[in-house]
Amino acid sequence: MAATWLKDAVFYEIYPQSFYDTNGDGIGDINGIIEKLDYIRGLGCSALWINPCFDSPFKDAGYDVRDYKKVAPRYGTNSDLYRLFGEAHRKGIRVLLDLVPGHTSEEHAWFRESQRAEKNEYSNRYIWTDFCFQGARNLPYIGGESERSGTYILNFFKCQPALNYGFLNPEESWQLPADHPDAIATREAMKDVMRFWLDHGCDGFRVDMAASLVKYDDERKSATSAIWRNVREMLDAEYPEAAMVAEWSEPKLALRAGYDMDFYLNNPGNGYSTLMRDYGMPSAEREDNSYFRRDARDRDICRFLETYLDWYRDTKDLGYISMITCNHDTVRPRFNLDEREMKLAYAFIFTMPGVPFLYYGDEIGMRYQELPTKEGGYFRTGSRTPMQWAPGKNLGFSTGCADSLYLPVDPAPDAPTVAEQEQRPDSLLNTVRALLALRHREEDLQADAAFEPVCTEKGQPFVYRRGKLLIGVNPSGETLTCAMRAEGMKPVYALGSVKNGADSLTMGPQSFAVLKAE
Ligand code: NOJ
Repeated sequence: MAATWLKDAVFYEIYPQSFYDTNGDGIGDINGIIEKLDYIRGLGCSALWINPCFDSPFKDAGYDVRDYKKVAPRYGTNSDLYRLFGEAHRKGIRVLLDLVPGHTSEEHAWFRESQRAEKNEYSNRYIWTDFCFQGARNLPYIGGESERSGTYILNFFKCQPALNYGFLNPEESWQLPADHPDAIATREAMKDVMRFWLDHGCDGFRVDMAASLVKYDDERKSATSAIWRNVREMLDAEYPEAAMVAEWSEPKLALRAGYDMDFYLNNPGNGYSTLMRDYGMPSAEREDNSYFRRDARDRDICRFLETYLDWYRDTKDLGYISMITCNHDTVRPRFNLDEREMKLAYAFIFTMPGVPFLYYGDEIGMRYQELPTKEGGYFRTGSRTPMQWAPGKNLGFSTGCADSLYLPVDPAPDAPTVAEQEQRPDSLLNTVRALLALRHREEDLQADAAFEPVCTEKGQPFVYRRGKLLIGVNPSGETLTCAMRAEGMKPVYALGSVKNGADSLTMGPQSFAVLKAE
């Protein structure tokens, strides 16, 4: 059973480096998040996901954790984070931290111990082969860096040795079975980290690479899922309102493994990418067939629905699929969508079942920047630039000097800001606020209410039912009609024009509407 507060939750993802700097050192901090809680609540968000804010050498922006229980000094102290939990709760906001269970930094004390030639408590905490020239089947590995004779397996970048949760079907002497006491010790160590933060007031975790624990645990992920179910048992017994969202994007597996939510990520072939990012990798010359582009060449919502409906129907009684506007690994929507197109895309995302996530800055349409890589960001760096609060110095992000900033702020003269968009009733920011307020008002727009497509034909608006509400979206530049009975229904929210007659629903160019029976 999912945590009850998720039913009407809307998350705001914060990349802490870039949100708000209160001490003028050019990098965002925990106190900056505390100062902006009213802004976040005012948007209509009721929960936060904060990217890793723990001690780290930052070779992968903090996804290389050196100490799971210590806030990175650049963001503040543990006490600051405890204060954030308290202040957020007072304002009705929950806080999820980012748990990175698949790997640590190569500078973590466990790894240092594990590298030693003498056997010790941490020798099996990571996956080591037993000879300095021996690798592992298809897993990336590193040799020649340790006094121990063996190579170690990587989970992602070179700086991220894989923690050892064992192998599903061990093939070599150095591969532990998943029920080996040392593999179980890794799981218990991660539960200890979770308890530490939950005891201090955090409300749960976004879990990095949730599918990556047990190796060679191929398609069915049975052994990795068993670990998560064990974690879920602990949460149910000790922290029943704690929530977990998986970075997995296989909700049939993740929700059965005990997760409350699973992200619908921008992975090729799963349909999500066809909505806003149907252009391959960012490049100057591209053909863009995104569903929400006004000029999409071959608009077809079925490309999204094919996977979505399969997942949704299979998992709706187990937990939630989380639709995202973007995240720190994904190109911002503003890269290829204009303001109107973003409004329609967000209107769709915020009226879907499950628990939506808004990435900081997307509410004002922050641009994707072409930048050199920072902290292992590579192309992702462009989506991680400082939040744009107001015109003027560093766009209100920091009082520090411009060249001390974590990343440069958008240099464009028309860089969008919160302050400017506050003034315009029809700005993207105010549209996001109106949409989220609507979602909170109408129970049928929230996580649990049923979803059923009504009209999915090409050349017609996409129309879907959520509970008793009827919702239509027409991203094209033409007026489109769909034959259906929508008589007697009144729009409770509309962008553009909508007309519903006895036997048809007509939607003007680039329009969206939520209709309710009188
Ligand atoms: C997924 C995270 O979202 C990403 O930013 C990170 O680089 C990898 N996992 C490795 O932890």
